[in-house]
Parts: sequence; structure tokens; C-alpha cells
Amino acid sequence: MKAAYITETGPASNIRYGELPTPVPGENQVLIRTQAVAVNPIDTYIRNGNVKFQLPFPWIIGCDFSGVVERVGSEVKRFAAGDRVWGSNQGLFGRQGTFAEYCAVDEQWVYPVAEGMTPEAAAAGALVGITAHLGLFLHAGIKSGDVVFVNGGTGGVGSSVVQLAKAAGATVITTAGSDDKLAACRKLGADHALSYRSEQLDQALTDLIKVTGPINIWFETQRTPNPDRCIPLMALRGRIVLMAGRDARPEFPVGPFYVKDLRAIGFAMFNASAEEQRQAAEQLNQFYRDGRWKPQIGKVLPLSEAAAAHQLQEDNTLSGAGSLSGKIVLKP
Ligand SMILES: NC(=O)c1ccc[n+]([C@@H]2O[C@H](COP(=O)([O-])OP(=O)(O)OC[C@H]3O[C@@H](n4cnc5c(N)ncnc54)[C@H](OP(=O)(O)O)[C@@H]3O)[C@@H](O)[C@H]2O)c1
Repeated sequence: MKAAYITETGPASNIRYGELPTPVPGENQVLIRTQAVAVNPIDTYIRNGNVKFQLPFPWIIGCDFSGVVERVGSEVKRFAAGDRVWGSNQGLFGRQGTFAEYCAVDEQWVYPVAEGMTPEAAAAGALVGITAHLGLFLHAGIKSGDVVFVNGGTGGVGSSVVQLAKAAGATVITTAGSDDKLAACRKLGADHALSYRSEQLDQALTDLIKVTGPINIWFETQRTPNPDRCIPLMALRGRIVLMAGRDARPEFPVGPFYVKDLRAIGFAMFNASAEEQRQAAEQLNQFYRDGRWKPQIGKVLPLSEAAAAHQLQEDNTLSGAGSLSGKIVLKP
């Protein structure tokens, strides 16, 4: 089969595209004919060696997939040949990734595709949708009526946070870097979208929360959180969700934090159990059917352009190019 893989960690140009053996599914595995995959920032951190996992070289890159079940192992209960499926959490903890014509995935990480959802949308929403869901529901305990702030409302995670927070009945405030992207945030359902480039952003937020009420959940998608900035805007017993920036070492104002009974919650989606991720995936499917969650696609490329796709992701997530609005999806 054709696959995008590396034989050593390094820059995006290390990604090769060529023939590798088609995997044979184990007894608990589903063999999937891949229809679409999506790029996530973590794919680039593993590829360049900054996030360290034991990689079985040649190692196929990628976490997310959607496709059609080709055949199943003897112990698989929930799927049969011909089912349309999606999932994430591959390419981690020494597992092979998904950027190939076929992938063999443990049944526990596989979910049915919601009716009407394209393979591209199913792959685009995989890791980011589960992340947004776990952050809001499992970790931050979102309730109807909460005021949710998400920094970066058109990003992979941010665009799902905006939609899922609205679906949960929250008032949503978000930021973006251009007029087009601010309009996109409003289209996703954000009640208020503010430019993160404005020098008046903090004042605008201070004025806004006089109307909305203070922030119950601050969902930070940036790698450089600024507790000094966010804590004054938080409500009593507010939750600050931190999920990016492994190297970030911001100053932390303890006094203003504890006198508001605040909680800071860190999480990495791949630590969630298979059951927790499956529950998130099932509710995402329901939100999709109800028209309340639609994964955003920024670019579709052939799988042979995986190296260019990784470079584009890096340019945006690490260098702030701002040239992407939605996920990069690749098709074998
Ligand atoms: N902990 C976990 O489980 C987990 C899971 C997924 C992702 N992550 C991490 O979360 C981060 C975001 O991932 P992603 O996939 O959503 O990335 P992404 O798609 O690249 O999104 C980045 C977002 O950041 C916005 N942005 C850029 N500069 C900004 C600034 N100065 N202020 C506010 N927003 C700004 C961008 O807005 P514009 O496009 O408008 O410029 C864009 O919306 C990454 O670091 C990733 O590694 C963690």
C-alpha cells in the first residue's frame, strides 16, 4: 500500500511517500481502507522529535482517519466489513499512524460515521472534536448559561470549542486574527468575536463581561497562556483550561487565583480512556446529526503531499502564518 512515513525524526522534508506492507489486523483490530486523514499539530511535534514516543520505523505519520472497514479481527464485536468509520489516537504510544491506504486500528478507538457526514469532515473533526469535547464536558463541566471564552475561534480545536459550547447552551466569546476569520467565528455561533491583534483587546473583554457576566470557562488554545491577563476576567469558581504549550512557563498570580476559588485544568486528549473518548465521539456524532457541530476544512491535498501538509501546519501553529482556516485533510 502507499503510505506517508518517516525513517527518522526531523523536518517535514523527512516524510517519504511510498510502498509499505498492508497491515494485517490483530484479533481486536479493524482493517480500514482509508478515505481521508487530517493533520494535527502533535503530528508535527512527534515527527520532528520534540514529543518523544518509541517509533517503530518505518513509522507511518498521523493520528486521525476516516474510511471503510475492509475486514475485522476474530474478536471484533461492533464493526463489520463495509461500515463507514472514523477515529483518532493513532500514531501515539508506539502505534503506527494513519497516513496510508490502509490502517489497522484497535476496535476501542473506532466509531461509526454519522449519516450524511463526508469522509473529509469525519477525519477533519476527529482529534480536535474529541479534544474540545473532553475539555468542555469531562474536564471543565460546562453548564447551560456559562460564559465561555476560547482564544483562537477558527483553529482546529477552537472552532469545535465554539460550536460545542454553543450546543451546551453557553454564551461564547472568542478571538481571531482577521476580519474574515472574525466573521467565520460568528458563523460558527460565537456570540462575540474580537481581534486578538487589537491593542484594546483586554479593555474590550473587560467591557464585554459587564454585559455577559464574567467568564466561567477560559479555554486557552495558545501555547503561551497568560494567567495575569485571564484571572481578572474570571467568575468565582471559574475553570481555566490549559492544553497547549509544553515549554510555557508563565508567571502565575496565586493571590488573585485562589481568592476567586478558580481551578486550572490541564489535559492531553490522549490520556483519556478509550471509554471517555468513545463517549465524546458518540456525542459528537449526535451534534453533527443535529446540525450543531460541523468540522471545518481549510485545505484538501493528496496523501502524496503529506510533507507539504506538515509544513503548512507548522507555519500556522508554530509561526502564526494565519494562512489556514480549518483543518488540512489528505486523501489517499
Ligand atoms: N492537549 C491536547 O489534548 C491538545 C489537543 C489538540 C491540540 N492541542 C494543542 O493546542 C494548540 C492548538 O491546536 P489547533 O489544532 O487548534 O491549532 P491551529 O488549528 O493551528 O489553531 C491555532 C489558532 O490559534 C489562533 N491564534 C494564533 N495566534 C493567536 C494569538 N496571538 N492569540 C489568539 N489566537 C491566536 C489562530 O487564529 P488565526 O487563524 O485567526 O490567526 C488559530 O485559530 C496546539 O498547540 C496543539 O498542539 C492540544
